[in-house]
Amino acid sequence: MLIKQVADILPSEITSESSYLNRRQFMGAAGAMAMGSLLSPAISSASEVIEPPPLDYLAATKASPSGFYTSEVQTPYRDVTGYNNFYEFGTDKTDPEKYASKLVTDPWSVSIEGEVDKPGTYTLEDILKPHDLEERIYRLRCVEAWSMVVPWIGFPLADLLKRFGVGSKAKYVAFETLYRPDEMRGQRSRFGTIDWPYVEGLRLDEAMHPLTILAVGVYGKTMPKQNGAPIRLIVPWKYGFKSIKSIVKIRLTERKPATSWNKTAPSEYGFYSNVNPAVSHPRWSQATERRLPNSLFKPNRIETLPFNGYAEQVASLYTGLNLKRHF
Ligand code: MTE
Repeated sequence: MLIKQVADILPSEITSESSYLNRRQFMGAAGAMAMGSLLSPAISSASEVIEPPPLDYLAATKASPSGFYTSEVQTPYRDVTGYNNFYEFGTDKTDPEKYASKLVTDPWSVSIEGEVDKPGTYTLEDILKPHDLEERIYRLRCVEAWSMVVPWIGFPLADLLKRFGVGSKAKYVAFETLYRPDEMRGQRSRFGTIDWPYVEGLRLDEAMHPLTILAVGVYGKTMPKQNGAPIRLIVPWKYGFKSIKSIVKIRLTERKPATSWNKTAPSEYGFYSNVNPAVSHPRWSQATERRLPNSLFKPNRIETLPFNGYAEQVASLYTGLNLKRHF
């Protein structure tokens, strides 16, 4: 990813350790308020640190068609929620955890548009109501060559698209993140190169693939804001930047949609962005990855697998496609 500076940091956003701890408590409370009534009751008292509420879901080990579950060591919750890319809050890996508490995720609505039978703006409650939540333990491979293993909670995107009716002309699905500069300090930056809002897209068959999910939680709990609350995409065979966070718009289209990193640096980030150890990024190799958590003494460098290890499930989607050209 490009390195960008975040300017316009308000003095009030420079956080002392004590206010940081308070903020963490607040984040838990905000998460509880956002999703608690919706998914399960939050139990708390004024004196205790309020954890994001637990979710009711089917564990991956109980329902795991091939690819839904990896038994690789899971990246600890601390790293999953403390080492993030969410440029709307800044470019440092710790910025999202520090600043995402400002994001208001309740109320939340998602607009479903374009080549769809039942277009409209739906509340998060309406979006989630008919879907059973399930766990998916997936590898997440960032284009920057670090990776994690994350137990997400969500439901197949295909189920949502079928529910709203995929129109006969639909060939792609476009996604958009919230644009709210008051709450997202990265969107106020004068030096950022992303043309906000963050947008992403998939081919319709990729969107309908059973591995592609909309996630609302992680580690059995409501999605923390820094990970893309209240609802985000997860496409495990693609570089992490395709997995767009905090979605407010889903649009089915006939034409290939624009995507944020491709618009920013088209020679570095393609539309497909399938994990591919054989195609280097212009500035670094993609042959290996740093599996988090790691350290100087334990680099934890492992080989990157084609399609991030999901070739058996997804390679057939790309039969005949030149993956070097369509990176
Ligand atoms: N979505 C939005 N809206 N903004 C972002 O900056 N970063 C992407 C992706 N989704 C990003 C985003 C990148 S580069 C990665 S690697 C993953 O989110 C990281 O997800 P995580 O922070 O939950 O690990």
